[in-house]
Amino acid sequence: MVVGTIAADATLPLRQRVLRPHQRMDEVRFPGDDDADSRHLGAFDTDGRLVGIGSLMRQPPPWAADDSSAWRLRGMATDETMRGKGVGAAVLTAAIGHVAGAGGGRLWCNARVPAVGFYRHFGLCPVGEEWEEPDIGPHIAMELWVQAGR
Ligand SMILES: CC(C)(COP(=O)(O)OP(=O)(O)OC[C@H]1O[C@@H](n2cnc3c(N)ncnc32)[C@H](O)[C@@H]1OP(=O)(O)O)[C@@H](O)C(=O)NCCC(=O)NCCS
Repeated sequence: MVVGTIAADATLPLRQRVLRPHQRMDEVRFPGDDDADSRHLGAFDTDGRLVGIGSLMRQPPPWAADDSSAWRLRGMATDETMRGKGVGAAVLTAAIGHVAGAGGGRLWCNARVPAVGFYRHFGLCPVGEEWEEPDIGPHIAMELWVQAGR
C-alpha cells in the first residue's frame, strides 16, 4: 500500500459513498478543501485503486478558537472491502506525520462514536460531550498534541 497526497476532488467518491451516502457527490465538499495549506491523503492498493482517504485543514477547534497551531482531520474513510487491513492506520500516520513536519500542534477531529477506538489507537483523546449529527449519528470531538519533527 502507498499513501500520498491527492487532489481534493479525488476524495469525493469515497467520501460520498462511505461517509455521506445520503448526499450527492457535489454536496460532500468541505469548506477549506481547496485552501492552499489543506492536505488530502490517499492510500492506494497494489492495483493502484484508491482505498483510503483523509483530509487535513488549518482550522482551530471550537474549544480553542485562537489556536493557530491547530489542524482539523476530516473525511477519514476506508473502502468497505479493505477495512481492518491497516489502510486507515496508514492514512492517519501520514496525517500525523504531516502535522509534525509542519511544526507540530493540535490535531483534532469530530469523531463518529463507532470510530473512537480507531482514533484512540493513535493517541487521540475525547474532548467534551457527545452530540448527535443529523443523518449521520453520534459524534465526539477528539484531539492529539503532535510534536514537531519528521
Ligand atoms: C474508521 C476507519 C477509517 C478505520 O479504517 P481501517 O482501514 O479499517 O483501520 P485499520 O485497519 O488501519 O485499523 C488500525 C487499527 O485500529 C483498529 N480499529 C479500526 N477501526 C476501529 C474501530 N472502529 N474501533 C476500534 N478500533 C479500530 C484496528 O483494529 C487496528 O488495530 P491493530 O493495529 O491493533 O490491528 C474505517 O473503519 C471506516 O472507514 N469507517 C467508516 C467511516 C468512518 O466512520 N470514518 C471515521 C469518521 S470520524
